[in-house]
Amino acid sequence: MQKIKVGFLGCGNIGGGTWQLLQDMHEDFLRNFEVDFEVKKMLVRALDEKRAVEVPLSLLTTDVNEIVSDPEISLVCEFMGGEQPAASFMLAALNAGKSVITANKMALSLHWYELHEAASRNNAGLYYEASVCGAIPVIRTIKTAMTSGRITKICGIVNGTTNYILTQMRENGLAYSSALEQAQQLGLAEPDPTSDVEGYDAAYKLCILSALCFGAYAHPESISRRGITDVDITDISIGSRLGLSLKLIAKAEKRDGKIFARVSPAFVAADNQLSHVNGSFNAVLIHNHASDDIFLYGRGAGAYPTASAIVADMIAYTRSGNVLGLYESDAEVCKESTDCSYYIRLPEGHTHECSVCACEAFGKDTFELHHIILENNEYDVLLTEEISADRVEKFCTAVNASVCENAVVWPVEGRI
Ligand code: HSE
Repeated sequence: MQKIKVGFLGCGNIGGGTWQLLQDMHEDFLRNFEVDFEVKKMLVRALDEKRAVEVPLSLLTTDVNEIVSDPEISLVCEFMGGEQPAASFMLAALNAGKSVITANKMALSLHWYELHEAASRNNAGLYYEASVCGAIPVIRTIKTAMTSGRITKICGIVNGTTNYILTQMRENGLAYSSALEQAQQLGLAEPDPTSDVEGYDAAYKLCILSALCFGAYAHPESISRRGITDVDITDISIGSRLGLSLKLIAKAEKRDGKIFARVSPAFVAADNQLSHVNGSFNAVLIHNHASDDIFLYGRGAGAYPTASAIVADMIAYTRSGNVLGLYESDAEVCKESTDCSYYIRLPEGHTHECSVCACEAFGKDTFELHHIILENNEYDVLLTEEISADRVEKFCTAVNASVCENAVVWPVEGRI
């Protein structure tokens, strides 16, 4: 029987869910794995705070040293969120030789090398399955099942809040602001939703995935990022007519030795599995040259789904004591886009005759023109072949100049 004494940094939604799951599964873990997890201390902001789950008062402390300096605690689970003090506390735990489990994509992606280096120097484990896509075992899949081949592409919906908002806009015709308000009422979106709706959360997660898939770490600020705040319901409705769903897509792809990584709203074709991922669900498609496509789907957030990944990491810790180290490559992560298909809604002042002429001038085989009538309004929409971002920009500069309005442009993900 292994007895593992654990320290929690934080006991909010996810910490509380983890505490509860450990109580639920205690007998099973004793029986199945001969392991007894004992949560010895929990760091909280204030002892008298209201908590989602009831925990014995004797476990609570407001002093992090009671955890990082306790020689009996070998495993620390971090649930504080945010960059600091979470990153410093995790470093302190690793430097004290403790293994760390975290769901904190922000601290992890911003302190990637520092945390891994501290883990390796102290022969401690650093586990973070819960940091990307909650319950979905995407990190474990990349680090174990997919090590036998070369990963060339990862493309997914890694943020549940924005997926919920875009689904409400598409299925119920809600404007962005009403869909956001609904997500906030349901507790999906934070009172300050910036991190989710501006794509930061997805960018943190993509940086972690890119580092693991390609051995190429990028700072979250250095990848191309667009959020969903300027998505117009008109384009969502036109997309539905054309069999396309708009999703916030996080994608990293290796081409010619470079990694192209971007977070952006993109239309997804109906025969792409990602188009069926609705509400607050997440999903990731990973392509490796040996296994071909692997599609993972599940809950990316929520107390129990996230706790399930944390507790699975706790069990992994009891088995290996450590985790596979990082592999690194020379591949650089860049901001440019790879060639892809585009959706272009021409400015409203543009006549249909002008649209036909523009398509002919730029190559009508490449720019497929659709004339859509929606609630008595007429729109010209182009779906392009895979082309460069430069070519799209030149096309848009020409059409925008003719009417002094801007075309709406979103990438399109085809079948994978
Ligand atoms: N805010 C995140 C989301 C939570 O909506 O996906 C999980 O990382």
